[in-house]
Amino acid sequence: MSKQANTPKSLDTLFIKTYGCQMNEYDSTRMADMMKEAYGLRLVAAPADADVILMNTCSIREKSEEKVYSELGRYKKLKDKRPDMIIGVGGCVGQQEGERIQQRAPYVDIVFGPQTYHRLPEMVKEIRRDRVCLTEVDMPEIEKFDHLPKAKSHGFVDCVTIMEGCDKFCTFCVVPYTRGPELSRPVADILEECTQLLAGDALEISLLGQNVNAYRGIGPDGDEWDFTMLLYAVAELEGLKRLRFSTSHPMEMTSELCVAFGEIPQLMPYLHLPVQSGSDQILKAMHRGHDREHYFRIIDELRQHCPDLALSSDFIVGYPGETDADFEATLDLIRRVGYDTAYCFKYSPRPGTPAGKSADDVPTEVKDARLQQLFTLMREQTRSAMESSVGKTVDVLVEKNSRDEGDMQGRTSDFKIVHFKGNPRQIGQIMPVRITEAYGQSLRGELVLTGE
Ligand code: SAH
Ligand code: SF4
Ligand code: F3S
Repeated sequence: MSKQANTPKSLDTLFIKTYGCQMNEYDSTRMADMMKEAYGLRLVAAPADADVILMNTCSIREKSEEKVYSELGRYKKLKDKRPDMIIGVGGCVGQQEGERIQQRAPYVDIVFGPQTYHRLPEMVKEIRRDRVCLTEVDMPEIEKFDHLPKAKSHGFVDCVTIMEGCDKFCTFCVVPYTRGPELSRPVADILEECTQLLAGDALEISLLGQNVNAYRGIGPDGDEWDFTMLLYAVAELEGLKRLRFSTSHPMEMTSELCVAFGEIPQLMPYLHLPVQSGSDQILKAMHRGHDREHYFRIIDELRQHCPDLALSSDFIVGYPGETDADFEATLDLIRRVGYDTAYCFKYSPRPGTPAGKSADDVPTEVKDARLQQLFTLMREQTRSAMESSVGKTVDVLVEKNSRDEGDMQGRTSDFKIVHFKGNPRQIGQIMPVRITEAYGQSLRGELVLTGE
């Protein structure tokens, strides 16, 4: 599809709109770094100010495609006024929709996927030369990480992707189709990226993957390393104060990994361990590979090694065939485990998934009512988790000014947000704070003066 030939103006600015998970956030950061290196592009906060607009999309739940098209409609108006503007759609919707995007929205210049974004500078060059639309969504064998510029620290808390993709094929989920098969980065590459970030401002590193505990990477010794081995190695890096990871799958929570929570001081006592449902029938139908007892055993083992471990999870209500009794089993699991937080979703059928072919037979009103019940229970659990911190003195990694004047904001080791009266000079430090008050989703405290 050729377009009018005109001399392109110079590219100066970039706007990235990111949807979805932490890995998409990570990818967007890498895209911004890469476009800065290739074209000197500067990030701007408004699409109207951008020469290049990139959407990094997510297709995990319903209406994601529609949301992308309606946002694109807004960008089209900008492009009508400034035809030189480049619009790219990447991420999981880009991967799934491919050429359909340019059929529906011909003003989109580039479509790419999570495994092809390292080609962005090249693609931009091509479309500026030839003014053609490009779609690159094949899943290349080559490692995109080899083609990205070195990672830079963007604050005190940085993320590092260690593995990507998923081989689990839970029946409801698009991720195995959008991110592709599980692929682990070599240990040396991960350690190098972490070292690089720690040489910058990073104090905390979060290791990312769709299922980090499926990590199997080549170690510096030529052997295959598993996730726990990698954790111990990262924890030893100079300057690392806090280590976290997300997401892990109950099927690969090994005993060694549970032990690591008691042994690695840098590994923070917070774990996101999605279970989706508390009903054995539903877990089986979802193809999760374990039953509720297995999940309880893991939680027990984790708490044995790390009694203060804070837990969070994901839940889906209204999966096809979910009965009242199935849903009760989910509420019961939540009461038994006791979570700090949970992310609760209404099931939505996704094209191309096995469950997408079954009837979406739980009525919307029932899904809504179950979701409200989950929210109510989780509000109680979050409140009691917050209240249990009151009176304690905890370490807070100060991240930024809070919205309220004179207040600073940071996180505890178990990932709770704390506000306290402080000073911007404290940003990037780990400070002792005595918790004085609990709110619904956060805490308030007072700095404990240690008397310098
Ligand atoms: N890899 C992670 C989760 C990835 S997706 C894991 O295995 O747990 C994040 C969450 O989105 C899932 O945990 C699930 O709760 C939710 N989700 C995924 N597909 C969904 C769908 N079709 N409908 C509703 N929620 C969904
Ligand atoms: Fe999706 Fe299941 Fe893979 Fe998680 S484990 S990404 S829910 S298929
Ligand atoms: Fe969404 Fe893709 Fe992440 S579907 S949740 S952006 S892996």
